[in-house]
Amino acid sequence: MSEILRAEEVHKKYFIGKRAVEVLHGVSLSVQRGETLSIMGASGSGKSTLLHILGGLDRPDAGDVFFEETSLVRMKPPKRAAFRAQRVGFVFQSYHLLPELDVLENVLLPSMATRRRNVRERAEHLLEQVGLSDRMDHRPTELSGGEQQRVAIARALMNSPDLIFADEPTGNLDSHTGENVLHNLFDLAQAENRTLILVTHNEEIAGHCQRELLLKDGKLEE
Ligand SMILES: Nc1ncnc2c1ncn2[C@@H]1O[C@H](COP(=O)(O)OP(=O)(O)OP(=O)(O)O)[C@@H](O)[C@H]1O
Ligand SMILES: [Mg+2]
Repeated sequence: MSEILRAEEVHKKYFIGKRAVEVLHGVSLSVQRGETLSIMGASGSGKSTLLHILGGLDRPDAGDVFFEETSLVRMKPPKRAAFRAQRVGFVFQSYHLLPELDVLENVLLPSMATRRRNVRERAEHLLEQVGLSDRMDHRPTELSGGEQQRVAIARALMNSPDLIFADEPTGNLDSHTGENVLHNLFDLAQAENRTLILVTHNEEIAGHCQRELLLKDGKLEE
């Protein structure tokens, strides 16, 4: 096993006017390639904040995050953008699909930032894996919530990212649909030996992961 991601003493606070809200007080974490891990914690405990910092979408105030020994904090913005585009896939609670694009175009979108070949075959393959072969020319508004989230999962996997972050991906779905969507996510991540970091409020879902973490009082507990 090799380490793919490491957080060292990550601190983050937000300012509302002059009042500081301390969210992360020294979070450290080591993630091995191919691992699946869940992060639970109360609403407002900082799970989304942490996920954004681990995925290079946001920067900590102090501490650092290393992807394969490269510091995300010291990375220049264009390089960090390229890192996100090529190495990271995000699945958000509220899908974030582009309404003016159809399903296939949404899944293809991340590949525009790369020079990969056979992207259309890959997009179609992923859509088949999530059971949406017959919805490829639909717009997001013409899909159910579960279908939209499955499109978002296919999109997150499009560039074969080393790291997949999912922030309460089933929060807006009924439990049966949510379960199906999660099976899709786990199956795809496992088939390609991807590293999956999943935020969830559901203990059963967390139990599907190899490691379960709890974010509490600004720190991670195993
Ligand atoms: N941009 C921001 N500006 C100021 N405060 C923020 C900002 N984003 C988040 N916060 C505050 O930081 C804390 C952590 O927010 P975060 O979204 O990380 O929590 P969470 O654990 O993901 O919660 P939830 O389970 O409800 O999604 C919250 O108290 C929130 O009010
Ligand atoms: Mg959140």
